[in-house]
Amino acid sequence: MDRKKFALDKMYNHFLHIAPRYRELRTTDLGPILFITNKLRSLSNIRAADIGCGSGRYSLKLVQHLGEKCHLFCLDNNKEMLYHLKEDFIKNNITNFTPIRSDSHKIPLQTDSLDCAMSFNAIHHFSLQNFLKESSRVLKNNGKLFIYTRLRDQNTRTIWGTHFPSFNKKENRLYELDELKSAFEKDPNLNINSVRLFEHNRVYPLEKLVEQAKNHHYSTFKFYKKHEFREALHRFVQNILNHYDDLDKISWKDQNTLLVIENKQ
Ligand SMILES: C[S@@+](CC[C@H](N)C(=O)[O-])C[C@H]1O[C@@H](n2cnc3c(N)ncnc32)[C@H](O)[C@@H]1O
Repeated sequence: MDRKKFALDKMYNHFLHIAPRYRELRTTDLGPILFITNKLRSLSNIRAADIGCGSGRYSLKLVQHLGEKCHLFCLDNNKEMLYHLKEDFIKNNITNFTPIRSDSHKIPLQTDSLDCAMSFNAIHHFSLQNFLKESSRVLKNNGKLFIYTRLRDQNTRTIWGTHFPSFNKKENRLYELDELKSAFEKDPNLNINSVRLFEHNRVYPLEKLVEQAKNHHYSTFKFYKKHEFREALHRFVQNILNHYDDLDKISWKDQNTLLVIENKQ
């Protein structure tokens, strides 16, 4: 098996395994949802797609905030993620959605059919240029694409980037803003309209952080060998003990970036 396929399979299996607990292990931010909802407020009917939607923690908030005027296509290549998304939407009495198992660069939706598309925490898993080309195809003229991500330098300032050994070295998939900008320059139709920084104050007990890491809530942890991970987690706990007095209140600031992109054909 070639190395690229092996790496993709490993990631697929990671998401398959973590799908039932993904929502509870990750922290979901309301800021980007309110921002996107506000940007779309003038539209009376919205056909939207959440690409790389996972188990739908952001998709659910989107449909809840946009309401009945929206139909959301929830796309992910992972069948288990989509299973849990469906389950959660049904539990929340949401019906204006369609889950679709699909690759981000081969979307089974018609050309010029969407008012907007969004992707949360997922573009570093995609083939970026192919994803942009496909997004541009499915978006209507003047349609919007929202990309919410951690940049590489933002990742280094998280609690993991600061205190978990080798975290920044292992995570080499994230982009810097310049890299994203040059990807958009290569695309003839997509133009960056604005870039918005989000800051989130986090306060978690150490116990919760250890639980997150042990469950590989960030796929970065899959890049550690088993014994290497055990050693790194031990050193992480030591680093936290050295830096914080109250182990029930480990605080730091997370940053994320939201790109608003316009499709002009
Ligand atoms: C880090 S998770 C983020 C999920 C969700 N957006 C969230 O924030 O909770 C990345 C998601 O992208 C999906 N994914 C990875 N590569 C993909 C691809 N090529 N096409 C479609 N989905 C993909 C994974 O299955 C996973 O659900």
